Amino acid sequence: MRIVLSLGGSILAKNLDSDRFLKYAKALRDISKKHTLLVVTGGGEAARDYIGAARAIGADEVTCDYIGIEITRLNARLLIAALGPDAYPEIPSNYLEASKAMTSGKIVVMGGVTPGQTTDAVAAILAEYLRADLLTIATSIDGVYSSDPNCDPSAVKFDKISPEKLISIVMAIEMKAGSKSPVDPVAAKIIERCKLDALVMDARNPDLLLEVMGGETARKSPLSCGTWITAKK
Ligand code: UTP
Repeated sequence: MRIVLSLGGSILAKNLDSDRFLKYAKALRDISKKHTLLVVTGGGEAARDYIGAARAIGADEVTCDYIGIEITRLNARLLIAALGPDAYPEIPSNYLEASKAMTSGKIVVMGGVTPGQTTDAVAAILAEYLRADLLTIATSIDGVYSSDPNCDPSAVKFDKISPEKLISIVMAIEMKAGSKSPVDPVAAKIIERCKLDALVMDARNPDLLLEVMGGETARKSPLSCGTWITAKK
């Protein structure tokens, strides 16, 4: 299978722990033995800190986004270092470069590309462009809920939902200040338009990532640790 993985910075770069990078690298290396793998790294806490500092200085939002992109690329650079010879050595700065890098047979790692979105959107667009079999959004929550579980105690988790339902949930969450959506709204629209199969999963433990994605046909049954997004009945 061809898999694009959006690897959240908040799980990969938590406390900027080098051991954590090495553990994710090991899991990704094992997954890549069975699948063609492209990884988009997020910025995590460092991106939020830098963006906060930029806002306090009075920087406009596009400048803040460019700063966030730099941090996502720094995390990509660290992950490439952790993967060693199994990674493509350069960070693609656009989708065409990523497509060319994929022909190397190595694990391709990239970060953000353009202001106004997050790396979930980059991963979704990359998955559409490369006609990937699966988009995995690896994050710190165990799936998509009916509303933000941090704000609404009655929120219910879905094992499986349609892309249309995902969009309605994501848009409702985005409207509320302080809420954080599990999937970027741009990514949700891309998933809908290309009928991409996607998985949102809790991947704070890299072993779980390997367990879910490491088989011949990356599991597509309902998971306690995630939500399947699929147009298929
Ligand atoms: P992230 O993708 O890391 O945001 O991008 P996130 O949703 O907070 O994800 P986690 O915490 O890593 O899981 C960090 C910031 O970088 C900018 C945005 O400002 C984003 O909030 N960015 C990233 C872009 O502007 N464009 C991109 O293509 C990617």
